[in-house]
Amino acid sequence: MRAMINRRYGDPSAVLQPADLPRPTPGRGEVLVEVHAAAVDPGVWILITGRPPAARLAFGVRRPRQPVRGRDLAGVVVAAGPGVTAFTAGDEVYGTSGRGSFAEFTVAPVRRLARKPARLSFTEAAAIPVSGQTALDAIRAAGPLTGRRIMIIGAGGGIGAFAVQLAVAAGAHVTAVCGPGKAPLMESLGADRVIDYTRAEIDSHGPVHDVILDTAGCRPFPLLRRALTPTGTVLLAGGGHDAPGFLGGFTRQLRAPLAGLFGRRRLRPVAGHERAAGLEEINRLVEAGRLTPVIDRTFPLTEAAAAVGYLARGHPTGKIVVTVERS
Ligand SMILES: NC(=O)c1ccc[n+]([C@@H]2O[C@H](COP(=O)([O-])OP(=O)(O)OC[C@H]3O[C@@H](n4cnc5c(N)ncnc54)[C@H](OP(=O)(O)O)[C@@H]3O)[C@@H](O)[C@H]2O)c1
Repeated sequence: MRAMINRRYGDPSAVLQPADLPRPTPGRGEVLVEVHAAAVDPGVWILITGRPPAARLAFGVRRPRQPVRGRDLAGVVVAAGPGVTAFTAGDEVYGTSGRGSFAEFTVAPVRRLARKPARLSFTEAAAIPVSGQTALDAIRAAGPLTGRRIMIIGAGGGIGAFAVQLAVAAGAHVTAVCGPGKAPLMESLGADRVIDYTRAEIDSHGPVHDVILDTAGCRPFPLLRRALTPTGTVLLAGGGHDAPGFLGGFTRQLRAPLAGLFGRRRLRPVAGHERAAGLEEINRLVEAGRLTPVIDRTFPLTEAAAAVGYLARGHPTGKIVVTVERS
């Protein structure tokens, strides 16, 4: 099968290359999936570049232990491994694979898969798993949102465009913070107010937000505090994946519980979990017409390095998806 792999760390255009590999074999609790689409997220960039260096402790110190890149996937089940009863050949599924989805075929554990909603294309479904589930977990961590004010920083990005829709569905008043040109999209997703951060700072409306979800990771904590009510909560979903230092952007999330300057305000890191239950919850919102993936661009499999490079420029509108064409 064709796959895009990196056997060493470096710039995506230099190290992410096509390869012919044997089809993987599903083990217990896994299925073999014919991949139709696979999304890009900052985690893919981390596994290609090996930055921040701390990430190498988990994924391979000198080179990535697993060479095929990509995590999100949407496709069709080809074969089920031992013990699998949830899916059979021909089922259309989406979710995540730890074995790489920038490939014609991959293997994925059924605990991280769900049926693809009928109203979504493979490209749309592939955009959901990592970013959509991180947004879901962040909005859950915010607690009840009916009638409360939430600010979402990075609202036009991969996690943010899902988070805006989930917060609207939860009954919140949503302030979307994004760069120039994204206001019409934010309003179409249901945001009540949009702050273009090139024109106004996030505290321009005062300390009125009960919750701030920060996916961009570049505002100092005192500034976040000035936009928050005295009992509000800041949720840190991202820390700027390309920040310098051994821990890069993770430093910000690790510091969060120690940042005592918040008084009665709370500052918490949030982590997304990849699991079937989260995807099924998302499916219900998709089927109800309350959640729709926003796709910025698609790239063919052979141009996966360009797709990752586009993401790394830092200003995607929603998700970037790699499509796997077959002749
Ligand atoms: N906690 C977890 O479990 C988890 C899971 C996945 C990802 N992450 C992390 O979360 C972060 C965001 O991920 P993502 O997939 O949403 O990334 P993304 O798709 O690249 O979106 C990031 C957004 O940040 C915005 N941005 C850039 N500079 C900004 C600034 N100065 N002020 C405000 N917004 C700015 C950009 O929007 P504009 O074009 O509007 O500037 C961009 O769309 C990354 O650091 C990633 O590693 C965490």
